[in-house]
Amino acid sequence: MSSQPPARRTVLRGAALAGAAGLGVAACGGDGDGEASATPTAPVDLGSPDEVPADGTKIYREDRVLVTQVGEGRYKAFSAVCTHRNCVLNGVRDGRVTCSCHGSEFDARTGKVLQGPAVAPLPPVPVRTDGGRLIVGPEA
Ligand code: FES
Repeated sequence: MSSQPPARRTVLRGAALAGAAGLGVAACGGDGDGEASATPTAPVDLGSPDEVPADGTKIYREDRVLVTQVGEGRYKAFSAVCTHRNCVLNGVRDGRVTCSCHGSEFDARTGKVLQGPAVAPLPPVPVRTDGGRLIVGPEA
């Protein structure tokens, strides 16, 4: 009677899987804690403006912003934090920025909601070029 009954091991393995599933749900739901700002609070250097395609959009997930080139050398930037439940937006197609958490879509040029469940538009972020760099956020 020194070995553990198989039924107990099965229960523990089941609990471990349930824990992992719980983590997956938390990660999908974004931070949701309201501590992180949806827009930069200081200037952020995104690198070369050439990374934003002509008439296209690049999502800078780490910096939680997206930049759209609306004309040659002209840019618009928005928060890349979904206004539904704070997931970081993760897809661009046909001028639409998409959130894979629950399917919201936003206009890459205006930030307007094109498909819910989100109802609020993406907040705009100041954007400029300076010395061949793309800078978002408030002036220093
Ligand atoms: S967080 Fe729900 S659609 Fe983006």
